[in-house]
Amino acid sequence: MPEPKIAPSLLAGDFSNLQKEVVRMVDYGSDWLHVDIMDSQFVPQLTIGPVVVKCMRNGVPKEKAFFDCHMMVMNPERWVDDFADAGANLFCFHYEATEKHMEVIERAHARGMRVGCAIKPKTPVEAIEPLVAHLDMVLVMTVEPGKGGQSFMPECLPKVEYLRQRYPELDIEVDGGVSPKTIDSAANAGANVIVAGTAVFLASSPKDVIATLRSSVLR
Ligand code: DX5
Ligand code: ZN
Repeated sequence: MPEPKIAPSLLAGDFSNLQKEVVRMVDYGSDWLHVDIMDSQFVPQLTIGPVVVKCMRNGVPKEKAFFDCHMMVMNPERWVDDFADAGANLFCFHYEATEKHMEVIERAHARGMRVGCAIKPKTPVEAIEPLVAHLDMVLVMTVEPGKGGQSFMPECLPKVEYLRQRYPELDIEVDGGVSPKTIDSAANAGANVIVAGTAVFLASSPKDVIATLRSSVLR
């Protein structure tokens, strides 16, 4: 299994100080920063766009803070260049948001980003299998995308198990409702990239939560 990567979701952070939140989470031991991009079409909410991501990146080198951009947007092909220019490290688009899967993957790779593909709880894992050989990561959503603070859906974990059995070296991310209470089942299923928003940011010690999540993956 690949290395654990703990990725606090900035959606639960202080939006008036996003860059400060990035630096704080890196200091607390996070590996990646999960950046939730919502366009009010793929999901109801609107969050941030490439202009803000660029500001978060300003002065913070790509090697110091890895931006895992979760693109909850329709037609993600439209955004590849903007997010590459903004300094995204990983472009994770939704399978359900486009028919141009290979175009997104090839263009994002050509722009030097890693590429992930996310599936919603109701999307069968078999749908993305033809793409896996071209991807750096698969994101198995464990809530309906759109907002933080929802309950973890354990019924999504068989998809993680299915992928881990077939692709031992693939980065498999889980996102939604992940906390010290739910991490063990996700880690046992084979997830190694762990997103947690409210569980990290609302904790009295985010640093301890990050360490707990990591040790569960390593166990
Ligand atoms: C939900 C987002 C998540 C969200 C997770 O659509 O993709 O990244 O921030 O938040 P928690 O960890 O609170 O469920
Ligand atoms: Zn997310």
